[in-house]
Amino acid sequence: MPDPTNIEWIKIADHVNEIGFASNRIGVVKVKGKQICVGKFNEQVFAFAYKCPHAGGIMADGFIDALGNVMCPLHRYKFDLKNGRNVTGEGYYLKRWPVKQEADGVYVGMDAASGFWGLFK
Ligand code: FES
Repeated sequence: MPDPTNIEWIKIADHVNEIGFASNRIGVVKVKGKQICVGKFNEQVFAFAYKCPHAGGIMADGFIDALGNVMCPLHRYKFDLKNGRNVTGEGYYLKRWPVKQEADGVYVGMDAASGFWGLFK
């Protein structure tokens, strides 16, 4: 389990409007050389895995529904953006990272000790 006091905040944009959300409200950014998805729902920004935990569907090609769940385009499993829970009941978790919006930009938090793949649930 990552240490929540050991978060490294990595800037992904100077402003939320620079993220480049597609019409499905999902954008893709690179953090430490890896792609992650960034989704927008009710003016809140969420960071989550580029690939689906089920069979690697590209989450950036899915969409965010009216309840704030992101749906994978491959088999249509849905995940709650707030906690990564698989709300359609298949028992998976979507990897997520905390996001904060500051005056000087948008940041994604990752575990400083374990690096990019030290994930937060
Ligand atoms: S790969 Fe995403 S639901 Fe199957």
